[in-house]
Amino acid sequence: MFKNLLIKARDARWMWDLFGPIYNRRIYNALFELYEHIAQAVEMDGSSQILDVGAGPGYATLLLAARHTTASLLGIDFSAMQVRAAERLRKQRGIHNCRFEQGNAMNLPFANNRFDGIVSIGSIKHWADPQQGMVEISRVLAPGCWAVISETDRDVAEEALRRFIQRFTAWYFWDPLLHWGLRHIIFGQSFSEQEIASLARAAGFREIRTEKLASCPYVIVKAQK
Ligand SMILES: C[S@@+](CC[C@H](N)C(=O)[O-])C[C@H]1O[C@@H](n2cnc3c(N)ncnc32)[C@H](O)[C@@H]1O
Repeated sequence: MFKNLLIKARDARWMWDLFGPIYNRRIYNALFELYEHIAQAVEMDGSSQILDVGAGPGYATLLLAARHTTASLLGIDFSAMQVRAAERLRKQRGIHNCRFEQGNAMNLPFANNRFDGIVSIGSIKHWADPQQGMVEISRVLAPGCWAVISETDRDVAEEALRRFIQRFTAWYFWDPLLHWGLRHIIFGQSFSEQEIASLARAAGFREIRTEKLASCPYVIVKAQK
């Protein structure tokens, strides 16, 4: 019951509006290797239009934009606060080939086949209907192009989870609580790589590859439309 309430709160827009800034301050240190890996995994050329679904503070979106200055990046998030945070960071970094707007993964406000690549990191577990989100991603992606979906690994080993927690550091008295929350509410209620691959297959993606990084307990699924 209590756990179900926490999961509901985890996925609520108001939660991201309120507590997004805490996540944003802490997460870069924990995920920078994942962002870097995904930035390299996205296949783009100079004129590519790339969408980041559930972009949050925009760390991955801005990394891609900075690396591919003639490509065009768009990050969407259902939280207005997260969109503002990402826009602030974009301005601070002086990046012009990227923008952020509010939008819901359940109903992407774009025409069919609009994008040459799509990324989504740590967002799919929050969606009301992850299968519908995957269908939407497939709909707005151009044929032959790739989507890279990454999410907390439901099958994370205890040792890897403990190493991940050390990256948040700072408040040691908080660690047991953080461990409980990550184990039972975040990782434990997420997806395995096979589950994300199945969602992608059911959404019509034809080639699907999965991988994991030793340094970061997230699954990475790369799928071609
Ligand atoms: C764990 S954060 C990940 C943020 C970012 N991708 C990153 O890797 O740092 C999840 C993000 O997904 C967003 N989100 C959750 N449900 C969403 C939905 N249905 N549509 C769009 N964004 C959503 C949240 O507002 C939040 O910013």
